[in-house]
Amino acid sequence: MTGTINYGEIQFLQAKKYFEEFVDKRRERIEELLRPEKTPVLLMDIEGVKNKYLKVKYNFSEFNVYYAVKANDDESVIRALAQVGAGFEVASIRELEKVLRLGGKVERIISSNPVKPPEFIDYAYSVGVRTFAVDSFTEVDKIKRIAPRSKVYVRIAVPNEGSDWPLSRKFGVDVNTALEILEYANNSGLIPYGITFHVGSQCNNLRNWFIAVKLSASLWEMARKKGLKLQMLNMGGGIPVRYNYESLSVEDIAYYVKGLMRKYFPVQPYELQIEPGRGIVGDQGIMIARVIGKADRGREKWLYIDTGVFNGLAEALGGIRYPFYIEREGELKEWVIGGVSCDSMDVVAKNVYLPEPEVGDYLYILSAGAYTTVYASEFNGFPKPEVIPF
Ligand SMILES: Cc1ncc(COP(=O)(O)O)c(C=O)c1O
Repeated sequence: MTGTINYGEIQFLQAKKYFEEFVDKRRERIEELLRPEKTPVLLMDIEGVKNKYLKVKYNFSEFNVYYAVKANDDESVIRALAQVGAGFEVASIRELEKVLRLGGKVERIISSNPVKPPEFIDYAYSVGVRTFAVDSFTEVDKIKRIAPRSKVYVRIAVPNEGSDWPLSRKFGVDVNTALEILEYANNSGLIPYGITFHVGSQCNNLRNWFIAVKLSASLWEMARKKGLKLQMLNMGGGIPVRYNYESLSVEDIAYYVKGLMRKYFPVQPYELQIEPGRGIVGDQGIMIARVIGKADRGREKWLYIDTGVFNGLAEALGGIRYPFYIEREGELKEWVIGGVSCDSMDVVAKNVYLPEPEVGDYLYILSAGAYTTVYASEFNGFPKPEVIPF
């Protein structure tokens, strides 16, 4: 490597720096875990998860914070968050049972999935959950039937541009339909409680929050004119973490969002909520895999590892770019990283710059705490990464 610094070198040096800082901050606790006998594993910094929650809570001081369990449902994570008083956002019977068993308080549990299985609503209602998201008349009918007199909040569609994991196509309605749904809920004996939106996961575009808060404010006013007194605004998730590029910080987003609220909501809602998942666990986990093979294919150099998109790295398929690090020095080469299964879709990353590894080397995959193990299957007989809390 001579001459000017190139992109590959910057990419590797940044990953190296990120790895070294991550380890340095936790050295005493993490040192002996960095060379596991069995791979793949996901090391989760549980103190870090608690601190991340407290940081979000501190910055979003006026908000109730509900951790979106889907991001990482490991018992160690849930127990720790329950200990520091977090609320939880759940979608399934299994998630809800787990949260209750590990210390979550039912008054601090919400369910923001706008289309829920009837059995889930039934179970949630039976244990005391009374707040549900909706974005269709059918869902209102279901909640009226299974969970009468509950509070409902309507999901509006907002832009997801600039979010690495958009969530906009599947859920959410325009404000006019949202108003009709709230009125319908009111006429069905439910309590029209508020509004929710999701700016897209891993959102690095403040404009999404801008449009979302403005749309919410106009729906709020439309509802008021119809005699519906909404009380709550739920801003979903979207707080990003660092991958192989810098992201907006929790402080940046909180500062901006609070300014929007002052500007567009002259009277503040009685309750404000956020439900971050990735922003709490994403950068507190490091996955360790092993190199199992190498090959030259045409002009491409391929590196194969013992995990893959079916065993934890599913988000690689949708645009999440993890930082990768190996503890070697020497000339950087450009690699395609292939997953462990026989499936040709199982490609974890392209254009990754690393010194030449050997079979058996550890590959460190940074910022792997969110949406990894929860997505993992044992396709082709390969194990999911074992979670090691530390
Ligand atoms: C309803 C809902 N709330 C919260 C979240 C968490 O989002 P994030 O991980 O971007 O914070 C999601 C993610 O899919 C979601 O669907």
